[in-house]
Amino acid sequence: MSPTRTRLAVAAAAVLALAIPLAIRNADAATTPTTVKAGPAVATSFTPAQVLAGVQANMTTAKKVNSKPHINTMTRAQNVNVYQVAPGVYAYTSGLAIDTDGSDPDPDPDHQGETTWSDSNGKALGAHHVPFYVLGDDCWDRTSPCPHFFYKEHNMTGRQFALMFYNGKCIGAIFGDTQTANNQTTSDNDSRELGEGSVKAAQLLGIPSSGTTGGVDNGVTVVMFSGSSWVVNGTNANLNDNIQAKVQTALDSLGASLGGTPPTTPPPTGSTFEAETGTLSAGGTFDSNHLGFTGTGFANTANAVGAYVDIPVTAATAGTKTLTFRYSDGTSAARPATISVNGTSRGTLNFPITANWDTWATASISVPLTAGTNTIRVTGTTAGGAANIDSVTIS
Ligand code: GCU
Ligand code: CA
Repeated sequence: MSPTRTRLAVAAAAVLALAIPLAIRNADAATTPTTVKAGPAVATSFTPAQVLAGVQANMTTAKKVNSKPHINTMTRAQNVNVYQVAPGVYAYTSGLAIDTDGSDPDPDPDHQGETTWSDSNGKALGAHHVPFYVLGDDCWDRTSPCPHFFYKEHNMTGRQFALMFYNGKCIGAIFGDTQTANNQTTSDNDSRELGEGSVKAAQLLGIPSSGTTGGVDNGVTVVMFSGSSWVVNGTNANLNDNIQAKVQTALDSLGASLGGTPPTTPPPTGSTFEAETGTLSAGGTFDSNHLGFTGTGFANTANAVGAYVDIPVTAATAGTKTLTFRYSDGTSAARPATISVNGTSRGTLNFPITANWDTWATASISVPLTAGTNTIRVTGTTAGGAANIDSVTIS
């Protein structure tokens, strides 16, 4: 059972806490790489930010499960609701009070040796090892169907998987302990409360995890997956690994049922592609014997008319883009080259001389690109072959 929590939130702090979560949640914008090795634009997994946005969009009155409000364990405010955001998937946002219970020792004076649910060896869960969340032990109103979210009415049991989101972080957790039943008289807590989790859950989410001084008043979203296939097995030693191993599966499953499409991973415009990721016609080499190149080297084509380097690039969207080549030509004559995209010539670009082979300049040309992978070929039109090519940037 859960420890007593008698946190009296300062009213102003509680009001402020209600205003903060949106900004916090939005902090997890997908990061976009600035330099990406060439590769196909492939659909990948759903991101936590994408799934959280989909969950929040479904936390609507029409999808509310409870008819009476739950209590935020930290602030005591009766403003927490549970929403069925997808078939069999239930979400709430509350604070996080720290549960120290179970088989791990903890200095918290409220520490109890038991958790409601056990690991697969029958041992009480360790709050320092296993990220778990806490639900009401019974239906506080003693009526059925329960006016609150009561796990037994929703195909849930111990070690039921959930995603927990806070401040740009996303972790897996399991249903590990229950909030005190309504027959407990030694505490002001009751089973309507939502918003408690283990020390380990707090640590993984970046929330102060002390049982006496830790926790956060709001902004923690718990997304619970019902059904026996979402029960996680394992011991205190390996449960956390087993739980986290399910996170991406859960994100993808929920992302799909929320109707989204996975993001793709082409780089944004402005990405730079190194020539040394490409291929050369006969006699060319990728070298690093002149200073100032980026990446691991540069393309040195053979000295011959028609010598070329192919550089694979990816574009986020189709359209006319500027290709900016970084090059050097330490001779006394320019090295003009035709630029082709996916086998079609798009014109001749001059590559004027540079002070020496260690000095790099840029030359640009506009070309149409398709969304995804494109092959850029630089073909020398004079006996010197192409200039040394360091990279090409798409903008
Ligand atoms: C030199 C230089 C090479 C360059 C070559 C050329 O050998 O070191 O980097 O490619 O001249 O004229 O093409
Ligand atoms: Ca050369």
